[in-house]
Amino acid sequence: MNRLIVVSNRVPRPDSGAQAGGLAVALDGLMERRGGLWFGWSGDVSATATQTPTRLESAGAIDFATIDLTPDEHDRYYNNFSNGVLWPLLHTLPQLMRYDRADARVYRGVNARMAAALVPLLRPSDLIWVHDYHLLALPAALRSRGVQNPIGFFLHVPFASPDVLGAASEVATLVRDLLSADLVGFQTDNDLNNFVAAAKAFAGAEQIGPKLLSFAQRTVRLGVFPVEIDARRFAETAAGMETSAPAMRLRRSLDPEALLLGIDRLDPTKGLPQRLAGYRRLLEKHPQWSSHATLVQIAATSRKEVGSYQNLRATLDTEAGRLNADLGEPDWQPLRLVTRACSRELGAAYMRLARVGLVTPLRDGMNLVAKEFVAAQNPDNPGVLVLSRFAGAAQQLDAAILVNPHDADMVADALHTALTMSIAERQSRWQTLWSRIEDRTPIGWGRGFVAALLRTAGITTVAPAPVRQLFSNVQQLAPAAAPAFDAPAFDVTGAAARERLN
Ligand code: G6P
Repeated sequence: MNRLIVVSNRVPRPDSGAQAGGLAVALDGLMERRGGLWFGWSGDVSATATQTPTRLESAGAIDFATIDLTPDEHDRYYNNFSNGVLWPLLHTLPQLMRYDRADARVYRGVNARMAAALVPLLRPSDLIWVHDYHLLALPAALRSRGVQNPIGFFLHVPFASPDVLGAASEVATLVRDLLSADLVGFQTDNDLNNFVAAAKAFAGAEQIGPKLLSFAQRTVRLGVFPVEIDARRFAETAAGMETSAPAMRLRRSLDPEALLLGIDRLDPTKGLPQRLAGYRRLLEKHPQWSSHATLVQIAATSRKEVGSYQNLRATLDTEAGRLNADLGEPDWQPLRLVTRACSRELGAAYMRLARVGLVTPLRDGMNLVAKEFVAAQNPDNPGVLVLSRFAGAAQQLDAAILVNPHDADMVADALHTALTMSIAERQSRWQTLWSRIEDRTPIGWGRGFVAALLRTAGITTVAPAPVRQLFSNVQQLAPAAAPAFDAPAFDVTGAAARERLN
């Protein structure tokens, strides 16, 4: 079996205690089962920019190789360009972008340094799978260092239309860089179509099939791979936590039949101020929920050094205070806002207790919380999901109540409908939602992508890998990783490769 190299900015290093975002949650299971090398940022900042990994660690079948960022890189590559430019642009929120050309240069520099540190660790038969918007320049940076291994890239966030992306000049180059990959994967058809438009507009790529581009004598395959959760396992966790002490405490503190719940990172894409506006409108339009309903909003602080996140925190604090002051009673508070993260287990318990789950991002690649909310429900007495139609998850979960998060009246009406929905309708909607996720797992998602990468590599004309050159690098820097000298460039031949993965 070809070794899998996963490259991502955030790496869940053993014992790092870092909070898992959507990307890490999606990939952890696959890597635990399949094994391989996970490469990326260590999560630490140190003064020296090394050209080799700062840390090599192992846990079970996974090896971790990571580099530290310098303080300047952390500022410019992670905070400013990845999260201050690419994140808002890709989510079609250009007004939040804070652009500085110097940040883009450092972003490119970090991608180049990551490539330089990874290349000596590669074996000719490795499959390379790069993840997310922090590393858009990496496929080209690897190719420019002579890497001929199959490279797959998966974007966890949305891909915006070229009109929006053009607001940052570098995006055109980054789209060209991505076209050095063999397979580029997206969460939804809409993201894929936007990428095709950008590849044509910015790079002059030619579309030679519905999901096939030609660029600089290379064929690049595109695909849609919606990220999944382990729905059955999450359901078991939620059921197991139902009578845990914290869940019981929450149950006793309010009326669970009028409990509305949101669990998000505190992020401008999640539509939190708009959600509060919709909830306020519910209480104004339907006074029967006054002194009765409670919105528990967990908004875990995130990326605290980025300006738009600081502004959002201030807005939320103000709006939450106003909502409680304007509409609360001496013995009732409509809103409980918590900015500390809660564990996935506890989140599962709260979701099972809630009558309504609010997942109303302005734009979201997928949103795994929506899938988790469905999985967490008691099938006999399920809660209702109110979901933004701008979340990738809305494609699969169209039996939820779909809303436009900008329209406070629509959100208020959806909440009222959810709170008053008959048990028969709740059960029937939930059955449909559950049928869309019950057999899926992140491992299945990962295998699907890897199998597609293998197939793509099998049909792509790949010149013989520079085995000797890579081998000499490997010998020099990491002798234990040296492959057999006559190893093929990679052993991918269609059916046989697929069988090993399924
Ligand atoms: C999203 C992104 C991930 C990221 C995660 C957490 O899910 O797609 O790439 O790791 O958010 O954000 P952070 O900035 O803490 O890594």
